[in-house]
Amino acid sequence: MLTEWEAIQTRISCRSYQDRLIEPEVLGEIKSCIDALNAESGLHFQLLTAGEKGQSIIKMSPAMFSGPIYTFAALVGGEDPVSSEKVGYYGQKLVLYATRLGLGTCWVAGTYDKNSITVDVPEGEKVWDVIPMGYATDKVPLKQKMIRAAIRKSDRKPEQFLESDMGYADTPEWIRKGIEAILKGPSAVNQQPVNIVYKDGKAYAKIWKDGRGLQYNDLGIAKRQFEVGAAEAGMTGHFLPGDEAEFIPE
Ligand SMILES: Cc1cc2nc3c(=O)[nH]c(=O)nc-3n(C[C@H](O)[C@H](O)[C@H](O)COP(=O)(O)O)c2cc1C
Repeated sequence: MLTEWEAIQTRISCRSYQDRLIEPEVLGEIKSCIDALNAESGLHFQLLTAGEKGQSIIKMSPAMFSGPIYTFAALVGGEDPVSSEKVGYYGQKLVLYATRLGLGTCWVAGTYDKNSITVDVPEGEKVWDVIPMGYATDKVPLKQKMIRAAIRKSDRKPEQFLESDMGYADTPEWIRKGIEAILKGPSAVNQQPVNIVYKDGKAYAKIWKDGRGLQYNDLGIAKRQFEVGAAEAGMTGHFLPGDEAEFIPE
């Protein structure tokens, strides 16, 4: 099984799936992961899965996706920014776990038919995103390659993620590894709206750009990515919740 850091290196948004069901043991692992994440966060993530091959269990936009989807997670949580950030943070934990198990995933907030799914949504909450899961085709079709290349064109350079009096190369390795992980991570329409402020030896995750109402999802994702990167450089810790919140080393 891959480590979380290795999962960060290999993960890309999978938009082309094999006609293959996920094995029951693997589904069991995902289900346990979701139960643990819900228990810790108070969110209401749900795993929906088709028992057999045939019809997709969710209708994805054919402009963006190919192949049947037999399993997906619905990321359900409150509508406020705190919940939105949690959805991002715990959703990315789920994505990295699925990646470690060899599955393809994609964060999807918009490009699917919302009427094609039935999900339990408690009062005052909503489905923020869905995460289709399955096995990526061995070869990524040209169309999906082009979609990714077009969106990833907007990639920023690592030094653009840093707000500090210090030059990028002079920052400690855990800051640079954390930023590398954020850069490699997913963000809505690849807006990469989260920077790292590094000041007096402390790191803060900051939204520098508003992003279509999904910037708090992106903040949570970036925080998780940074934590894994920093840990890879020997600095384990976690961010406090909220915008411009501090990274607390353990
Ligand atoms: C919160 C969020 C929502 C997203 N929504 C969609 C979507 O509706 N459709 C889609 O095709 N990709 C969606 N994506 C995937 C991003 O486009 C993708 O992560 C980004 O372009 C970076 O590419 P990569 O994940 O392949 O590294 C979403 C990503 C995030 C984080």
